[in-house]
Amino acid sequence: MRVLGIETSCDDTGAAIYDTEKGLVVHRLASQIDLHAQYGGVVPELAARDHIRTLLPLVDSLINDPANAGAKVDGVAWTKGPGLAGALLVGASVGSSLAAAWNVPGVGVHHMEGHLLAPMLEDNPPPFPFVALLVSGGHTLLVDVEDEGRYQILGLSVDDAAGEAFDKTAKLLGLGYPGGPAIAKAAMQGDPDRFHFPRPMVNRPGLDFSFSGLKTFVRTTAADLALDAQTIADISRAFEDAVVDTLAIKCTRALKQVGRSCLVIAGGVGANQRLRARLREDTEAMGGTVYYPRPEFCTDNGAMIAYAGAVRLRLASSHLFNIDQGFEVIPRWSIEEIEPAA
Ligand code: KG4
Ligand code: ZN
Repeated sequence: MRVLGIETSCDDTGAAIYDTEKGLVVHRLASQIDLHAQYGGVVPELAARDHIRTLLPLVDSLINDPANAGAKVDGVAWTKGPGLAGALLVGASVGSSLAAAWNVPGVGVHHMEGHLLAPMLEDNPPPFPFVALLVSGGHTLLVDVEDEGRYQILGLSVDDAAGEAFDKTAKLLGLGYPGGPAIAKAAMQGDPDRFHFPRPMVNRPGLDFSFSGLKTFVRTTAADLALDAQTIADISRAFEDAVVDTLAIKCTRALKQVGRSCLVIAGGVGANQRLRARLREDTEAMGGTVYYPRPEFCTDNGAMIAYAGAVRLRLASSHLFNIDQGFEVIPRWSIEEIEPAA
């Protein structure tokens, strides 16, 4: 089965074709970074308009790509939520229209399920069950994954998401948008011993996160200093170390709590090299194994939606798109609310 996947939940227009026999056929991404950079963050209305301009030509280019060789698409999947309402509506209306026009099944998928299943696109996919750390611009979640579609949230951020903390801290330091890659780059030149930032909530039991206090700590530290390049690098390093340390402590705790040995890292912040290295080290020290998607599939992309769509279509869920009922998007949607596997 060949599934076309469409991602438009935020500021990336992604599309891909996944074949359940042959694997990923072709994928493409049109990033809106330049469009939003001048505003220091995503402007929802501009994002939606850019998806409208970009999506159909992107889908067209995939269908006609030599890798697809004109093969028929057997199903269409799009991100139904969570995300920006206007942006989601573009992908949902295009996806459901294509499914109707081609007379193939269509399904709206959960964006975080896409992130969570993204490591399945790699040559050495994780075996179920596992614990997943989902760290993106909008979410920080620890999820116990028993099987496809069986997700239980173990912990989540009570305020800012990890990616949001990177973005806000970068803005404060004048590093631009998106903040994660900018902080990681600056941190490479930073002195790890000049500043020490708090590790929020690690001394309390439980698996929840909080990052807004850390951001405030950075603001107070920066307010008393001249922000030359070295100071920016040193603050970036201390900030990155604090986030990485906090996430690592909670991941180890989660693996022990649910008795799993396999950890999956996904979502945009999962592209962070220092985080990847640290989680590998800690998990292997416990005798476990860590899995993550290639960095380009950590951040938003169409391939993960095509894959998650293929899973959902195989489960033949009652939630398949039905032209008589129209389509909907769900801008706020917990991963625990999605339908379990049959
Ligand atoms: O998953 P994603 O592409 O979009 C959402 O669904 O939110 O995640 C984007 C987030 C942004 O906050 C960005 O700053 C962060 O991921 N990010 C990183 C890195 N690359 C992207 N954070 C830390 N280090 C990185 N290398
Ligand atoms: Zn995402």
